[in-house]
Amino acid sequence: MTKLAPVLSAHWDEKDSFTLEGYKRHGGYKAAEKALAMDPDAVIQLVKDSGLRGRGGAGFPTGMKWGFIPQGDNKDHYLVVNADESEPGTCKDMPLLMANPHVLVEGCIIACHAIRAKHAFIYIRGEVTHVARRMNQAIADAYAAGILGNGIDVVLHVGAGAYICGEETALLDSLEGFRGQPRLRPPFPAIAGLYARPTVVNNVESISAVPAIVMNGAEWYQSMGTEKSKGTTLYSLSGHVANPGQFEAPLGITLREILELAGGVRPGHKLKFWTPGGSSTPLFTDAHLDVPLDYEGVAAAGSMLGTKALQIFDETTCVVRAVLRWTEFYKHESCGKCTPCREGTWWLVQILRDLEEGKGTEADLAKLLDLCDNIMGRSFCALGDGATSPITSSIKYFRDEYIAHLTNGACPFDPVASTLFVGAGA
Ligand SMILES: Cc1cc2nc3c(=O)[nH]c(=O)nc-3n(C[C@H](O)[C@H](O)[C@H](O)COP(=O)(O)O)c2cc1C
Repeated sequence: MTKLAPVLSAHWDEKDSFTLEGYKRHGGYKAAEKALAMDPDAVIQLVKDSGLRGRGGAGFPTGMKWGFIPQGDNKDHYLVVNADESEPGTCKDMPLLMANPHVLVEGCIIACHAIRAKHAFIYIRGEVTHVARRMNQAIADAYAAGILGNGIDVVLHVGAGAYICGEETALLDSLEGFRGQPRLRPPFPAIAGLYARPTVVNNVESISAVPAIVMNGAEWYQSMGTEKSKGTTLYSLSGHVANPGQFEAPLGITLREILELAGGVRPGHKLKFWTPGGSSTPLFTDAHLDVPLDYEGVAAAGSMLGTKALQIFDETTCVVRAVLRWTEFYKHESCGKCTPCREGTWWLVQILRDLEEGKGTEADLAKLLDLCDNIMGRSFCALGDGATSPITSSIKYFRDEYIAHLTNGACPFDPVASTLFVGAGA
């Protein structure tokens, strides 16, 4: 059976895991020393050979992204670390930064050396003051110890708290002081990113995975995971489970296996639906318990691995209510730049709200799907696409539950309004 494989999370249970001393006790900053003695191109090749893929959602090969940065162009290059983590259900980067901020600092040093950058910016969401303080302390300690400031600088930038600022080009606009809205591509950030200079944008977990790869080698990393999805990753398990939290395992573990490790669905209840990669990835049901949670396995089963945010819902949850709540989030977070997303998410909420209250008609389901069709692939960035995922997938798997709202004239899970209450304790 696939087991947990703590690499990033190996020492999270130690009281001082977040301090410089705690990090150095386990060989911290040795990988940076080793990488700085290597040719930058050799570091890029090593990361390419490891098979590391971006952990921010899309799974793009990290070494290949670094290799896109033009060399010998006499321009400043930048590394930008995406610590916005706003996808509903995703809670891996913040725990990582709380438990081990130095691994990110070390990853930044290695990545900057590889792409020949002198500056790294870490963009963190505004609400997580405690994480920002911890990260700032780690950066200050690294400067005081002479680890930073010798040709590589790291700056923490605290955003104002917007989901769209996790989208890499909106993030760059925000970092430059503009309103966070996505940019037209091309040019891609590797050519014209921060301040129109070649820029790599990577997720916190992607950069934090690099020191262990440098220390242990590409083959070691390749030996974990599946054919095309290598290494270990942090799965965040939340919702109706006995022991929610972060579980680090090789890519390809199944939800059934993770649930076993987490003590199962909360006692007395059974799995109804779940998200494999946050709320912008199509829902799965109990029929998908054995899908390998790697990029290919999840895609073949009709969803996306995304941020590996496994949100678990048991039979007491109204799927229409859950989807409405997510859709309200997307409507609120739509930046307004493009019409399909700005107007579309607004209409999705109106129709879903009526359906959830049992007020709509069956024709509204067709209208919802039609709206989704007009947003998917037509919005300026992937926020709009993501907003449609829970809707289309929930109608696919739970059409009967939508219809039950209509025939009942109310949400069947509402103990007051419904005569057919099917919720908890029914
Ligand atoms: C609406 C939206 C929000 C996103 N939020 C995040 C985020 O919070 N963190 C993140 O790393 N990537 C986020 N992404 C993905 C980034 O655009 C980008 O793909 C990622 O930071 C690249 O890093 P990686 O290659 O290491 O995965 C978001 C994308 C979209 C469309």
